[in-house]
Amino acid sequence: METNGKPTSPVISVLGLGHVGLPTALGFAELGCEVIGADDDASKVAVLKSGKLTFFEPGLGPLLTKHLESGRFRLTDKVGEAIRESQVIFVCVGTPQKDDGAADLSQVETVARTIAQNLNSYKLVVSKSTVPAITGRWIKRTIARYAENYRRAASTQHPPTEFFDFDVASNPEFLQEGKAVENIFHPDRVVIGVESDRAREILEDIYKPLKCPIVVVKISTAELVKHAANAFLSTKISFINMVADLCETVGADVGEVAKGLGLDPRIGGQFLQAGIGFGGYCFPKDLRAFIHLGEENGVDCGILKEVERVNLRRPKVFVKKIQKALWVVKGKTIAVWGLAFKPDTDDIREAPSLKIVEELLAEGACLRLYDPQAMANVQRVFPESAEQITYCNSACEAARGAEALLLLTEWSEFKEVDLARVHDVMEVPVLIDGRNFIDPQVAIAAGFEYHSVGREGVDRPVPGFTQR
Ligand code: UDX
Repeated sequence: METNGKPTSPVISVLGLGHVGLPTALGFAELGCEVIGADDDASKVAVLKSGKLTFFEPGLGPLLTKHLESGRFRLTDKVGEAIRESQVIFVCVGTPQKDDGAADLSQVETVARTIAQNLNSYKLVVSKSTVPAITGRWIKRTIARYAENYRRAASTQHPPTEFFDFDVASNPEFLQEGKAVENIFHPDRVVIGVESDRAREILEDIYKPLKCPIVVVKISTAELVKHAANAFLSTKISFINMVADLCETVGADVGEVAKGLGLDPRIGGQFLQAGIGFGGYCFPKDLRAFIHLGEENGVDCGILKEVERVNLRRPKVFVKKIQKALWVVKGKTIAVWGLAFKPDTDDIREAPSLKIVEELLAEGACLRLYDPQAMANVQRVFPESAEQITYCNSACEAARGAEALLLLTEWSEFKEVDLARVHDVMEVPVLIDGRNFIDPQVAIAAGFEYHSVGREGVDRPVPGFTQR
């Protein structure tokens, strides 16, 4: 962009201020850009304007305060206004799942139409939401169609309005909840899907301060990279969970198997943590959308159907483990540590913990629940009840009087808890670790009967454990 021959950074708008949009917007502000954050949810915008976050994300609060003060980050619930005032528009709206598994792209379409209506200068429209390949083409077609409509309608009353050019690009976001700020400033790569040099130059310029590889490809390729990345990572998790089940039958240790596997650079050590399965807003939904895309286009995605099937069974496999350890579940008091779908977030969407809680409630267990951040969200799904559900203020409080303790999310604070103290407040010291997070020797030394996933050697009851 040039003004009076002097290059200036384009004003950026970010449409949709959720788990992707807000960190993205604040990230650009931190990189020195002028950013308008827009969301049609006026109450969300009001909360953000007051300097408060609408979800928990480590490190994001200080960035919000900093850039509301620096003036580089403005907020509005008037999406059209944000579009008119910006040259580069990042689309970060939700792409939820429809009943048939396909991605519901209605929010993306609404944004495309709003852009068409507010096309008052050249715009670069960048999709960051995870969308099926060819969505970029639809965004382009939609903007072109509706822009022409609005222009004709306006021209009947006024002199003909000018038609402004626009580009569409795809720039998938790979950030992980709980690590969003770190991921924004230290990405492994930036993928840019473009079809013009102008779009490429603008995006390369925005990302220049980040010292990482920039992969420039076609729009549909960029869209596919994101889906393929999520599908591949999900596959790794289901694979190691299958291996964990095998480990239990042959007496092997899945943690050691994963280590032995992961040291091969062709495999890599990450995302080989066995447990109760993957959840969250992205993996389950994106996997289903990818399978749907394959089916629609006659491509056999059977491998991904198995990944999904293995994952859907994980909570049931874990409940079986609980039943095996406790014999009768009905009427037992069970403490639960961790409810969020992963640590460092309050997000419980598709959290495997919820399915486990649901099954245990159906079995007649009395649950004492604790999560450092996610309890308010869980209470909306499972309200407190005198008979079966008690929300507790600390890990130790949750364990009081319990006949078993389940660890379902690996929050770091659970490593800091004094297990000997926890042992003393429990009725029966049985610890069933769904994330293989606690060192078995530490648990056993504290007097626990310790069970975990895919580590048969330490799953057996410890002879002579102290049961009170
Ligand atoms: C994911 C992708 O990692 C990210 O690149 C994309 O942009 C959005 O989706 P996120 O959903 O935030 O990020 O969480 P992630 O850290 O990937 O974990 C997803 C789920 O997999 C969690 O439930 C986690 O507990 C589980 N998981 C992860 C495992 O069970 N084992 C592992 O080894 C890793």
